[in-house]
Amino acid sequence: MTIEYKINPPLELDAFIEVYRASTLGVRRPVDDRDCMARMLAEADLMVTAWDGGQLVGLARSLTDWCYCCYLSDLAVAASHQRMGIGKELIRRTQAALEPGATLILLAAPAAVDYYPRIGMEQHPSAWILRPGETL
Ligand SMILES: CC(C)(COP(=O)(O)OP(=O)(O)OC[C@H]1O[C@@H](n2cnc3c(N)ncnc32)[C@H](O)[C@@H]1OP(=O)(O)O)[C@@H](O)C(=O)NCCC(=O)NCCS
Repeated sequence: MTIEYKINPPLELDAFIEVYRASTLGVRRPVDDRDCMARMLAEADLMVTAWDGGQLVGLARSLTDWCYCCYLSDLAVAASHQRMGIGKELIRRTQAALEPGATLILLAAPAAVDYYPRIGMEQHPSAWILRPGETL
């Protein structure tokens, strides 16, 4: 199987949403809110995608300033294509698209907490978030 990778290709909203569902990440993302998903697609700075023929089978969606930080918000590989090295390659290509001084930052979904150390990422002991509805 040959997987082709493309950076920021034109994507149809339905195909974009389908990768979230097909990977199971959809249970943790607002896949039923099409307006929000459309904005997640439109407003992403860096979308590295994996294709099997004409089928979108994986993506890494990031928000970045390119030089200092890059938040890799969503990494998803369709279940049919998992454990073939696609996720790692999506992250590798995300980093490669940035300037050398940029740090890649992400929050692991519960299903992927063992994944990121396995591929060589370092756990940060001091990540902090403010959830929707929480105030200071
Ligand atoms: C997590 C995910 C992106 C990994 O992508 P992938 O293409 O299946 O993973 P890779 O093929 O790059 O795996 C690289 C290595 O990690 C291992 N691995 C894969 N998924 C793993 C997991 N969930 N936990 C621990 N190790 C994992 C692979 O076996 C492989 O090991 P090897 O190099 O010794 O063979 C993918 O499984 C996925 O989309 N999962 C559901 C959505 C999700 O949780 N996304 C993360 C959001 S933070």
